[in-house]
Amino acid sequence: MTYLLALDQGTSSSRSIVFDREGRIVAIAQRELPQIYPQPGWVEHDPMEIWRGQLATAREVLVKAKLEPKDIHAIGITNQRETTLLWNRKTGQPVHHAIVWQDRRAEPLCAKLRADGMTDTIRDKTGLVIDAYFSATKLRWLLDNVSGAREQAERGELAFGTVDSWLMWQLTGGKVHVTDVSNASRTMLFNVHDNAWDADLLKALDIPAALLPEVKPSSAHFCDTDAALLGRSLPVGGVAGDQQAALFGQACFGPGMAKNTYGTGCFLLMHTGDAFQPSSNGLLVTSAAQTSAQPQYAMEGSVFVGGAVVQWLRDGLQAIKGSAEVQGLAESVPDSGGVMMVPAFTGLGAPYWNAEARGTITGLTRGTTVAHIARAALESIAYQSAALLQAMSRDAVAAGGSPVSELRVDGGACVNDLLMQFQADLLGIPVLRPEVTETTALGAAYLAGLSTGFFKDIEQLSTLWRVERRFMPTMGRPQAGEAMARWEHAVRQATAS
Ligand code: G3P
Repeated sequence: MTYLLALDQGTSSSRSIVFDREGRIVAIAQRELPQIYPQPGWVEHDPMEIWRGQLATAREVLVKAKLEPKDIHAIGITNQRETTLLWNRKTGQPVHHAIVWQDRRAEPLCAKLRADGMTDTIRDKTGLVIDAYFSATKLRWLLDNVSGAREQAERGELAFGTVDSWLMWQLTGGKVHVTDVSNASRTMLFNVHDNAWDADLLKALDIPAALLPEVKPSSAHFCDTDAALLGRSLPVGGVAGDQQAALFGQACFGPGMAKNTYGTGCFLLMHTGDAFQPSSNGLLVTSAAQTSAQPQYAMEGSVFVGGAVVQWLRDGLQAIKGSAEVQGLAESVPDSGGVMMVPAFTGLGAPYWNAEARGTITGLTRGTTVAHIARAALESIAYQSAALLQAMSRDAVAAGGSPVSELRVDGGACVNDLLMQFQADLLGIPVLRPEVTETTALGAAYLAGLSTGFFKDIEQLSTLWRVERRFMPTMGRPQAGEAMARWEHAVRQATAS
């Protein structure tokens, strides 16, 4: 009997999970990753902490699963995306902390790109909007601000990578510098039509090509790990950015299949097959995990404040002591009593794109209690996700496809039955929660299993996807339409300046 090992390096923690041939979890190990906030709007990670924490969990999970290294067939890697690292090829030393995807320091560089008229070029080549979220301007910031970095980069002495590249560099003792298409597509330097780094964009951003890793499909032989690290050399057979890995782990392999991950924020992705389908609603186009050289795409939108609204109820409003209390409090009232909360703490993303919007609670009456506010907070996660999915469906229909017919869910907050039922009610489609909700790690394991013969093909993977609970819509469509209209009304109030 052999198993797959998934390394899941996320923003707040590093995890390792062992899966069996049925895609079932055998053991999990996890370590928190310290966050570094050097100044407002800046977020960094220590690259050596990323590596050491990840390696420690990989060792620990083997012990927990009572397995020997010989029992592991292959490794899959998935990771927080866009986070940018730069290191010296000879010494392996990072030249700076990793600049995390949430970091806003590169905004002035983005403003310059917009002013230079690069918006259409970047959207057409990469599928992205110009934003400090992506790696390109973070990398440019490092080259401009770390003493000697540009000269070293031009001499070919430095390597750039997202977290997957960094982990594989470390796993091979500096022998391999590689990434996959789904991670590359988040750099804003990658042409998603050709699956290649884009010379025009490198020139426009003044980034030396010598910095860049080789790019492979997401299911491929990436490298063999240094035998000294895990007791035996193991092949890395799959790599994908965490949201694309989750789409794969949810067995969303074809056009129109969609998943939503309910974490601190929510990430909604819909597969669009081999069609590069630009959005009229401000959604991104991104490379989906690819099992061959053939490009595959997804449409992506995110909710900035998802589960974070529950943290705010706990820490800001002090309405609950622990996050788990929210469902009980929300269920203690039959509905939100007309209260609407728009948790636009940091502005609103797609489909609204309003950076100036701020959190708003509407519909308060003398009878409003904290339970109504808790319910409205929980419902706001579903409202924001519904607005995103409806925008995606509009884009799909405009491109000659069908609206999304079911939504697969994962992430911490998908355990909340009240939230999932309300999501189904608003959308008017089934919301499906799978047995294994660790779909990010599962997707990485699937990608590794496919390239190494552990699994036969994606049809086999589709049969492994098992639903744990199906939430069917029970609300009438007119009532759901009225609820969405009330939400949009509240959004208008949150965005009125
Ligand atoms: O794009 C950012 C995303 O990949 C981060 O995911 O789960 O580490 O917060 P997570």
